[in-house]
Amino acid sequence: MENKAEINVEEGLNTEIEINEEFGNKLNVTSNKRPISELDSSTEEKKKTEALLKVEDISLSFTQYASGLRQTKLNIISNLSLEAHSGEILAVVGSSGSGKSLLAHAILGILPSNAKLDGKIEYKGRILTQEKKKELRGKEIALVPQSVNYLDPLMRISDQVIGDVAEEDEKLMKNLQRKIFQRYDLKPEVDKMLPHELSGGMARRVLVSTAIISSAKLIIADEPTPGLDEKTLNETLSYFKDMADNRCAVILITHDIEAALKISDKIAVFYAGTVLEVANARDFKNNGENLRHPYTRALWNALPQNGFQAIVGHQPMQDEVIDGCVFYERCSKKNDLCSRGIPLLKEIDGGVVRCNNAVSEEIPNSDETSSIHGHELKISAKEVKEV
Ligand SMILES: Nc1ncnc2c1ncn2[C@@H]1O[C@H](COP(=O)(O)OP(=O)(O)OP(=O)(O)O)[C@@H](O)[C@H]1O
Ligand code: SF4
Ligand SMILES: [Mg+2]
Repeated sequence: MENKAEINVEEGLNTEIEINEEFGNKLNVTSNKRPISELDSSTEEKKKTEALLKVEDISLSFTQYASGLRQTKLNIISNLSLEAHSGEILAVVGSSGSGKSLLAHAILGILPSNAKLDGKIEYKGRILTQEKKKELRGKEIALVPQSVNYLDPLMRISDQVIGDVAEEDEKLMKNLQRKIFQRYDLKPEVDKMLPHELSGGMARRVLVSTAIISSAKLIIADEPTPGLDEKTLNETLSYFKDMADNRCAVILITHDIEAALKISDKIAVFYAGTVLEVANARDFKNNGENLRHPYTRALWNALPQNGFQAIVGHQPMQDEVIDGCVFYERCSKKNDLCSRGIPLLKEIDGGVVRCNNAVSEEIPNSDETSSIHGHELKISAKEVKEV
């Protein structure tokens, strides 16, 4: 088979990857050659499709042994719902310890044995069972892990990036791997190295390469950008953008909201193990008046260019029992209702929010019923109720 894999990156421009080969769904991306600042992050021109991945009302807890044989249960994730669509990038942002990596591990079926997962995860409209997760892992669903410890310490870098391939495809894959490594400034000697010989930055670029080379339809990237210089950061982002343009669904977990906004279509905001808001990238502007949840506005206003406005307090501890809104203690808009029950999930202005005070600017014509993440919502003017 003739190897026509070719990758070109022009400085400051969106990455171009042309891989014309006979692998079913290998990257087959042609660049629009736009500067990354001009990458389109709106979903308006994209046709609304059925979600590739649907996470519905999941909760996750860990059983731990306290003193003696006494067992305790730590609730880490609760009432968490989100969707990932082919051709879109969903950024996941939020507090450290809010459950972002664990969500990724739940989708991939790599949770530790003391974890208990409830709720529903669907992939292509079918329940994603543990067997299915195992079958799809590293193939249709790929992880760019947060920790470089996920690399096999005893396996040569090149072999683990290429993975298991048929003998006749080996040469092409090797060539493709080398081209990708070249783009990431990973020299030929890296191919034969073991993970402990890599620097932190090199290891991270190796992890990104692993996802790029896979034929995944769903890519979950867990903090792929820390420590990257500006140019490599933009290149890495543009690879994810290209993957989405190539009809992959990308979940980009990051602390870097500004980086996320460069390429993402939607932003899911995590806090204390749940999603408080899913906003459109275009909602992040000015002083955040289009954002639906006080915590999302606080995150936005804490950015340097928005005045570093910090909010007092901290995320609830995992062993705290909370009957109402998880943001209650820090919220300046709270009322009595907020401490009495978990706020309903509402769909407002093309986004989703869990806040009693969130209302739409657009007043619906009349009462209408809709469904979001399995919850039936009855919408009347200035009011959204679960029915
Ligand atoms: N095996 C485990 N047993 C008990 N608690 C755990 C276990 N694994 C993770 N946790 C806890 O679950 C919480 C969520 O972890 P997770 O790694 O998903 O956070 P995160 O949102 O990815 O944070 P960060 O932004 O720092 O990466 C953390 O407080 C963590 O300590
Ligand atoms: S539900 Fe109440 S406490 Fe929670 S964010 Fe909304 S207004 Fe604040
Ligand atoms: Mg994490």
